[in-house]
Amino acid sequence: MARLLLFGGKGGVGKTTTSSATAVALADAGLRVLLVSSDPAHSTSDSLGVELGPTPTEVKEVPGLFGLELDPEARISDYIPKLSESLGPLMGGDEPDLNASEMVLPGLDEAMAFDELLKHLENPSWDVVVFDTAPTGHTLRFLALPEIIEKWSSKIIKLHRMTGGIRAMMFGAKDGEKMRVELEKFRRRVLHVRRILSDPELTRFTLVTIPEKMGVNETVRAYEALIDFDLPVSGCVVNRITPELDHPFIQRRIEGERNHIDSLKEALPALDFTEIELRDSDVHGIDSLREIGSLMHGNIELEEGLGPFKIGLGLEASRGTWKDGDIVYLHLPGIDREDLSLRSEDGTLFVGVNEREHPVQFDRPAKASEVKAKLEEDILRLTFPVRE
Ligand SMILES: Nc1ncnc2c1ncn2[C@@H]1O[C@H](COP(=O)(O)OP(=O)(O)OP(=O)(O)O)[C@@H](O)[C@H]1O
Ligand SMILES: [Mg+2]
Repeated sequence: MARLLLFGGKGGVGKTTTSSATAVALADAGLRVLLVSSDPAHSTSDSLGVELGPTPTEVKEVPGLFGLELDPEARISDYIPKLSESLGPLMGGDEPDLNASEMVLPGLDEAMAFDELLKHLENPSWDVVVFDTAPTGHTLRFLALPEIIEKWSSKIIKLHRMTGGIRAMMFGAKDGEKMRVELEKFRRRVLHVRRILSDPELTRFTLVTIPEKMGVNETVRAYEALIDFDLPVSGCVVNRITPELDHPFIQRRIEGERNHIDSLKEALPALDFTEIELRDSDVHGIDSLREIGSLMHGNIELEEGLGPFKIGLGLEASRGTWKDGDIVYLHLPGIDREDLSLRSEDGTLFVGVNEREHPVQFDRPAKASEVKAKLEEDILRLTFPVRE
């Protein structure tokens, strides 16, 4: 499972710049990095100078770095039809313009985006996934969805019982149950997202801001919102600091900015601070990103671990041999036993996480019925039968 780094902050402060610079720095250090953006304005493509699309695109200048722009249309249509189909009747409306699921569940969009992000985290091709724009207090509401759904589900079941006859007439007999099943699946996915996002071994948030009063206030609020949701915030980047120049106007500005930075540091003593000066031109292209990256992270030495980015356990399957057979270990943090499934097709074994399946690389054909699976402390141990 890849590590996830998220960059948050208000508009235009430098989230795309600092997240791209971090992605470049980590790839330069030898990691396989996927930079993900959800910005429909293609700013990540501009920043890297590479045209990105909805599938990982190689950044040729930086070996190991791939970029991707989430397609907001695609991700919703992917599996929302089912949910909205089953929620639709409950809303009682035939309004074609209204998406029933969005009306019912606050933050469904973000939930989808994060579920999509999770898909990339689960992909063993990546060591680190860097996400351009972290959720704010507002969009984080989706993290409360499991509880909302839980309440909802019981109401749906009650409705189901109370209105059996009428309901059957209106929606068809099985819709209530279908809806409950879809909601339960969705609830499990969001719970999973929440466990991943709140695990400091896997996820780190960095707040990006500028040295102005509004920036300070907004950053403290963002920090508190993230901490309220138990999310691990580790760093703060103060960007666009006025450089030292010998001019009274500049001197006064610098003095004001220093005060703001000091009060921010005082308000958020737990965070690592990085300061980046305003440059004489926009930050575009790999060379400028490398400069920003080295300001932010210095020289990243993989041998010593990556500090806040520490890469621990084998991300893809690691192999062992045991008298009972060959063992494949998969690092699957935040997973509940019930989230997992095992299936084989044409000799390939698939591990499903909340129904999303990943093929397990193995050197000979395998049958699910012959593979023993055991989940212990985030590690799924798959024991393949002894070779004949
Ligand atoms: N230290 C800096 N010096 C000069 N220009 C900068 C600096 N940091 C960022 N910029 C420029 O400022 C603009 C905004 O930065 P960026 O796109 O990274 O912000 P953002 O937070 O991602 O914005 P948005 O909220 O619109 O996504 C970009 O043109 C970028 O090149
Ligand atoms: Mg941006």
